Amino acid sequence: MTKSLNLKRFELGVCYYPEQWPETMWADDYRRMRELGFSVIRIAEFAWTIFEPQEGTFSFDFFDRAIDLAHQHGLQVILGTPTATPPAWLTSKYPEVLNVTQAGVQYQHGQRRHYNYNAQIYRELSARIVRKLAEHYGQHPAVIGWQIDNELNCETNVFYSAADNLAFRSWVQQKYDSLDALNSAWGAVFWNQTYTDWAQVNLTGPTPSDSPNPHQALDEKRFFSDSVIAFARLQSDILRELAPDQWVTTNGIFGHLDSHQLTEEALDFISFDSYPNFSTIFPAPGPEPLLDRRWSWNLSIARSISPNFCVMEQQSGPGGWVNRISQPTPKPGQMRLWTYQSIGHGADMILYFRWRTATVGTEIYWHGILNYDNRPNRRIREAAQVGRELETLGPLLVGTRPMARLAIVSDYDNEWDGELDLWHGPYTRQSVQAWFKVLQYRHIPVDSLNLRPTTTLEDMLKYEVLVYPHPAILTEDTAARLAEYVKQGGTIVFGCRTGYKDLRGQCYMVPMPGPVAELCGVTVEDFTRLETTQRAPLVRWRGDKTNGLTIAAEGFNDILQSVAPGARVLAEYDDEFYKGSPALVLNNSGKGRSYYYGAVFNEKAADALITEIGLTSPVARWLDLPKPVELCVRERPETGEKLILLLNYSEETQTINLKKAATDLLTGKPAQGEVQIPPFDVLILAEVTGSPITASP
Ligand code: GLA
Repeated sequence: MTKSLNLKRFELGVCYYPEQWPETMWADDYRRMRELGFSVIRIAEFAWTIFEPQEGTFSFDFFDRAIDLAHQHGLQVILGTPTATPPAWLTSKYPEVLNVTQAGVQYQHGQRRHYNYNAQIYRELSARIVRKLAEHYGQHPAVIGWQIDNELNCETNVFYSAADNLAFRSWVQQKYDSLDALNSAWGAVFWNQTYTDWAQVNLTGPTPSDSPNPHQALDEKRFFSDSVIAFARLQSDILRELAPDQWVTTNGIFGHLDSHQLTEEALDFISFDSYPNFSTIFPAPGPEPLLDRRWSWNLSIARSISPNFCVMEQQSGPGGWVNRISQPTPKPGQMRLWTYQSIGHGADMILYFRWRTATVGTEIYWHGILNYDNRPNRRIREAAQVGRELETLGPLLVGTRPMARLAIVSDYDNEWDGELDLWHGPYTRQSVQAWFKVLQYRHIPVDSLNLRPTTTLEDMLKYEVLVYPHPAILTEDTAARLAEYVKQGGTIVFGCRTGYKDLRGQCYMVPMPGPVAELCGVTVEDFTRLETTQRAPLVRWRGDKTNGLTIAAEGFNDILQSVAPGARVLAEYDDEFYKGSPALVLNNSGKGRSYYYGAVFNEKAADALITEIGLTSPVARWLDLPKPVELCVRERPETGEKLILLLNYSEETQTINLKKAATDLLTGKPAQGEVQIPPFDVLILAEVTGSPITASP
């Protein structure tokens, strides 16, 4: 069951830290927030010592005053549980709660997220503070929901304390039951790693060449994820018991954490922290980079967990820590643009990070809406504009959901295995970037679909096309479900390195692509990894719509044999010792099709495949859009009514051409023909039903 944010009205707000400001400022802060149209604040996620100044002594006065005053001003409150930052009294008395690096170095008090999830005393003290908070605020009229911890697995997502090691041992014992089964799953016969006693089984440690047993490393990541989920469950069970009318979420999506399972087991919906300038400071290689628009992919992942979600932290200023690479300030209009980027991808509640920039600590350069000087500025004016606009737009948006006809498929097993295994992990990242960019520039909305044992045929059939770039790990069960999807009319696209590993990360002794060889009508005869310095072999395409294209087959080359009688070779290598071998094969089965491409997808290959498959923009018939404008479509499930969000990420005015009548929802005026979108601006349209499409000029 998908867990989605389900609101009656759009909520806009801000993260606030009353403990970082003189109390005399609170009333003025709250008043100004209300003037901006904010209805909600998030507070207290780092304030454990204020609630529990000494072990077992609890005090709520401070936050009672902050919350009651917020309530008086008409603000709702999301309360953070403070477990991301254990008090100094706690870590000094119980150092076993501290996290330890793989090399054995114990983290110390002074930053955050320096604890581990498995120390029994930390679990007890965390449960107790959450219980006290829930008892105290579980019925408070201002408190609408809870954020568990803060960004679980941010800062670090590996855990090697003694408590983690012991917990891992029990975890593997439970999973494998016998040492024989463990030895077999981890391929321990290789390099004499066979275990003869459970006491010898540990988390991975430092190894020569930094190269642990890959099957053990994969299990370790599953264990880390289970540890986080158990820790979140510990808290959410208490919140559900004592605060049944308030919802529970957490913020962010980080490594070594199955956020889908976390949401399923512990939350009401996921919240995401949206900092699009991270995509600008680490741009993807290649021409016409997507920059901050690339961040839209992360938002797509958030909505694969909760179709409507909350953005708990929306970037509202330049980012930077004292010792961490800094980000440029959002240009005029960009903060508002990014807010609509979140909305376009499914957010129904957005809180800016943060109200005012901290004047102390590591984040004095992670700017909020207001600067240190607290004077009105351009960012506050932009927030006010968003607040005003959402008064009218909010009711139209709430309950609508982004729609897409294509999904890029992923799964945690391949993600985690691919971190260590360079023979497939990096390819997935490259291919996803290529597909996403091409789809963005062709204005074809794309979803992320996390393929899980619980994913149903119906979940898959929502999409006409699934792109599963390089699922090295592929089980018979998944293959059977994908085959059924194709049989019922779906189109699936695979790239190289598909289907050669099982869930343990061990290689199948059958021709690749293993469990989907029959579906794809193809086997891999031979293969080679391409060196980065090596010129990628050219491939000649001869599909119905791609005949004559020549595209480099990058990264890795599967040299294919087209085996099924009905399978059709759509492209051949034109280079190397495998010149003339198939590089792309199409196979029809039932009502659907599968494409197997033997390389890593670059933009040209993704573009050619979209053309070959025949997928077009859902607005292609009536809307001409230039490349720098992102298209998002939000649809009301009950009526099919659509809102079209057009976001201009560029510094130049963009002209779109509307070939039928629409309403500009921000101005309420009709729009048709050529319409300009100024730099960093947005246009939100509703189609006028029944209006005819005029011929292109
Ligand atoms: C994260 C955290 C915040 C803050 C911001 C900016 O999203 O949740 O507490 O640290 O980053 O760095």
